Amino acid sequence: MSGLVDGFGRVHRDLRISLTDKCSLRCTYCMPAEGVPWIPKQSVLTPDEIERVVRVAADEGVETVRLTGGEPLISPNLIEIVRRLAAIEGPNGQIEVAMTTNGIRLPEFIPGLEEAGLSRLNISIDTLDPDRFMELTRRDRLIDVLAGIESARRSSLRPLKLNAVVMRGINEDEVVDLVEFAIEHEAQMRFIEHMPLDIGHTWDRGEMVPREEILASLSEKFSLEPLPGRAGAPAELFSIDGGPYTVGVIASVTAPFCANCDRLRLTADGQLRNCLFAREELDLRTALRNDASDEGIRDIMRASVAAKRAGHGIGRPDFVQPERGMNAIGG
Ligand code: 5AD
Ligand code: SF4
Repeated sequence: MSGLVDGFGRVHRDLRISLTDKCSLRCTYCMPAEGVPWIPKQSVLTPDEIERVVRVAADEGVETVRLTGGEPLISPNLIEIVRRLAAIEGPNGQIEVAMTTNGIRLPEFIPGLEEAGLSRLNISIDTLDPDRFMELTRRDRLIDVLAGIESARRSSLRPLKLNAVVMRGINEDEVVDLVEFAIEHEAQMRFIEHMPLDIGHTWDRGEMVPREEILASLSEKFSLEPLPGRAGAPAELFSIDGGPYTVGVIASVTAPFCANCDRLRLTADGQLRNCLFAREELDLRTALRNDASDEGIRDIMRASVAAKRAGHGIGRPDFVQPERGMNAIGG
């Protein structure tokens, strides 16, 4: 058990699987407007292949699987994949299956996802203003995202989390409104520092809104108390006005949680990455398609974890942004 321990003693319990690099939005911090080099269809892992990987990962100590994209609701096999993964026996009972989505078309999927055994959802919402939404995502779909969040509120999927990337001059003035919106929807709002992960390589440190500023804006309206017990979670949590609602800040750039990272990532085309910012990937797809044994797959997972670096080093002068964008890596 627990074969996925890296050179710094970090035990890996969380596997993030990107089901597709395609998306119904074109968020500027993720993709260019056009000319995205999509993953060829035949390279995308099948439900059988994904199930196989998760079975081996569960034997190695993985407890949670998070489905991401691109946009996972675009994957034609999503419900089937959730059903199969949620049935896999992990170290402490069945594997927990969570999903990160942009919320578009969620209302029609929620009943199927609940029935298939999904346990929780993170939905991205960066702004509540339709014009800003259009500017930021290059699509006029705020209404659909709001409908998706409302359907999640009415569902059994809890805890419900909403994510926003905070951007200078775009939505930094909305953090209080977003928290109030989240509370109305029985959700936890989480603010994420903008990371250098877009395909267009447009990130600029000076443009990033740091944790300190996010907290200062929130404190103008709410009284925030830090909550203990963060463990491996990337978000630093605060109770709002004495609770029960909470808000999270994910300071991936200014206060990275690398020291407690317990994640491993699988891209839609079956490449294992030990970090969002990894420069190397290990090719599980070829192994899967060349009849590798479970031990062979396990050894590739162990090798990926063993090669994990201490941290992403965004602040270092020799930092190099990964080739692939967030849509291909998986949130
Ligand atoms: N920086 C920070 N967060 C990002 N996301 C996508 N790209 C970036 C970036 N460059 C977020 C999305 C979503 C999750 C999958 O990752 O907003 O919440
Ligand atoms: Fe789609 Fe998420 Fe990328 Fe936006 S950030 S384009 S919602 S994959």
